Amino acid sequence: MVRGLLLVALVCAAHAAKDAPAAKDGAAAASCDGGTCDITKLGASGNGKTDSTKALETAWASACGGTGKQKILIPKGDYLTGPLNFKGPCKGDVTIQVDGNLLASMDLSQYKSNWIEILRVDNLVITGKGKLDGQGPAVWNKNSCAKKYDCKILPNSLVLDYVNNGEVSGITLLNSKFFHMNVFQCKDMVIKDVTVSAPGDSPNTDGIHMGDSTGVSIINTNIACGDDCISIGPGSTKINITGVTCGPGHGISIGSLGRYKDEKDVTDITVKDCTLKKSSNGLRIKAYEDAKSVLTASKIHYENIKMEDAGNPIIIDMKYCPNKICTASGASKVTVKDVSFKNVTGTSSTPEAVSLLCSDKIPCTGVTMDGVEVEYSGTNNKTMAVCKNARAVPLAASRSSPASKHAREPSHFFVPSSLLHIYVLCHPLATASSCFLYLNNLQEMERSGYSSAYYIGFSQEM
Ligand SMILES: *[C@@H]1O[C@H](CO)[C@@H](O)[C@H](O)[C@H]1NC(C)=O
Ligand SMILES: *[C@@H]1O[C@H](CO)[C@@H](O)[C@H](O)[C@H]1NC(C)=O
Ligand SMILES: *[C@@H]1O[C@H](CO)[C@@H](O)[C@H](O)[C@H]1NC(C)=O
Repeated sequence: MVRGLLLVALVCAAHAAKDAPAAKDGAAAASCDGGTCDITKLGASGNGKTDSTKALETAWASACGGTGKQKILIPKGDYLTGPLNFKGPCKGDVTIQVDGNLLASMDLSQYKSNWIEILRVDNLVITGKGKLDGQGPAVWNKNSCAKKYDCKILPNSLVLDYVNNGEVSGITLLNSKFFHMNVFQCKDMVIKDVTVSAPGDSPNTDGIHMGDSTGVSIINTNIACGDDCISIGPGSTKINITGVTCGPGHGISIGSLGRYKDEKDVTDITVKDCTLKKSSNGLRIKAYEDAKSVLTASKIHYENIKMEDAGNPIIIDMKYCPNKICTASGASKVTVKDVSFKNVTGTSSTPEAVSLLCSDKIPCTGVTMDGVEVEYSGTNNKTMAVCKNARAVPLAASRSSPASKHAREPSHFFVPSSLLHIYVLCHPLATASSCFLYLNNLQEMERSGYSSAYYIGFSQEM
């Protein structure tokens, strides 16, 4: 009698699981008690070896099909899964509670594109102290992007597409195969208290990449990875990055811009209270020198940034061409304007603390610096700023100082129509199109006896 009942129950469970993706409310309610879908009750096994993909798919179908507040619970344990495609729209609001760890399958043949991809879901929450482990070390050697311009992209770990009003908090993203997180076409997203962790030499393991998204905040987040800690791609607007530590990694970047056709503008970006620790770049704006799109990056504000042995702490690079495999060479069609750097301090691992490598055809405008005090930490060179396609003019014609004999003749410099507030002093070796400059703020320079400060101007007439 008892045995007979058990058998019936098992058959029902198997049936429910199989039909779950198309499940209607009845089946959903059966597997997700009180709106909570515990994946271990849907057949997932936390032994790190058994494939739990089906259980997660069932949980998603149930949670997404349920009304009101729905929760997918991933209890403590290690759950191996293949690609997970969670599609909305959902009937209610779904929270994915990550207490345990999800492990991405190492079998690349299972993936069409990404590992966990969530599409068209509003009011999504992903939270918990668990990990999304991309198990990248097993496949990083299959990444050919350093050699091929159009390389095959390995799976990104967590991809959010067309998600409105989302939160990702508390979790750790570990060793992704490619990007750890990709935010695409999203609106009003908060990413906070997240940890990203991968070795500094892991290929293209960007921390958080975003594109075509509005209202994205990244708050109190630690990122160590093998590529950009954060990359703010084309079409990003109203982005707020606060309290982020980056390193190792390639820095906090805007771009790459211009690689593809029809890219949209980047605007309203704030990066505040961040630390860059031994990252190969600091605050970077990069645009392909063979840009295929005409676009503008503007209203970008950096404030209270600490550099701890970061390479290229401040760099605007309009001739970006990684691995030297650009398909054509030419001037960037990307405009960079209204960029302010305020209170950027600490040490640089490269002599060039500031590099403004603007394009000859479209110069940067409205770049201001206030309280930028970054010093080269090495002993074999001086701290410098490098400005390509930039010219300086005297701050005031009447000023003169003992140092002025070291500065280039003012007549060598074009007087820009709008003065920019970068206080610099030209190095004697500066050439007409490039200026090596000692970096400091005006007050510091005057204290040090340099009163012939120069503004840097960028002009159409270069
Ligand atoms: C960015 O986020 C921080 C932390 O939530 C907040 O204090 C700040 O006002 C935000 N800044 C902008 C420009 O949205
Ligand atoms: C400058 O930034 C640092 C963090 O890098 C911060 O501790 C300090 O208070 C800031 N100074 C001002 C005047 O805001
Ligand atoms: C100092 O740095 C500049 C710029 O990187 C470089 O051209 C120069 O050779 C360096 N000097 C020494 C002594 O290393």
